[in-house]
Amino acid sequence: MAQKDIGNKVPLHTLKKVEDVAAYYDEWALNNKYDKDMEAWNYTGPKETSETFNKYQKNKNIEIFDAGCGTGLVAVELKKMGYQNFYGADISQKLLDLAPQGLYKSLERIDLNKKLIYEDDKFDSVFCVGTFTFGHVKPDALDEFIRITKNNGLICFTINVGVYKDYGFDKKINNLIDNNKWKKLEFFKSNYLSSKDVNAWLGIYKVTK
Ligand SMILES: C[S@@+](CC[C@H](N)C(=O)[O-])C[C@H]1O[C@@H](n2cnc3c(N)ncnc32)[C@H](O)[C@@H]1O
Repeated sequence: MAQKDIGNKVPLHTLKKVEDVAAYYDEWALNNKYDKDMEAWNYTGPKETSETFNKYQKNKNIEIFDAGCGTGLVAVELKKMGYQNFYGADISQKLLDLAPQGLYKSLERIDLNKKLIYEDDKFDSVFCVGTFTFGHVKPDALDEFIRITKNNGLICFTINVGVYKDYGFDKKINNLIDNNKWKKLEFFKSNYLSSKDVNAWLGIYKVTK
């Protein structure tokens, strides 16, 4: 299966700087085009990840960090399942501005490739859906996700199949297992954006630090 990157105009892998990625998504936000495209393309990443998480997490009062939340598609899915405490972060202010009013307790414009502003063990779970892809967020962000997640919390993510090995996500994930930072609950190839011939690995890992 071809594993390409997709987007609204230029190929994602040509974006070298974080400001370029932000500008790319800011433009995609115009006229709500990002959400319209995701619906038209039957983007299933947020729903598939939320449903898989929901098999393991029964407490709906937990605090969830949505890393690379964009317009809030993950929290929209989780809310349907009864979860209610969401904290979002993204590099695109214009996508953040499109998140439904009141859905998130906080929304921050931050670069997920840097040390995060949150204290250790702040969240019960972390989601990162659609954001481990070409030119976006690198594997070392997983160290920060583990730092800000409580022990026994779940880290839920997708990784575009096209970057999984090339960016070293395979090694990073195994290294975290070897160092007893987390253990695997689920890891499988999800549909994700199959209408565009793009699939992603979907992982749910339990923090064991
Ligand atoms: C494909 S979208 C996914 C958005 C949302 N999670 C969803 O599933 O619809 C990728 C997101 O990653 C964000 N992003 C890319 N690089 C980032 C970075 N370095 N720091 C924070 N967010 C970033 C983009 O702004 C965009 O919102």
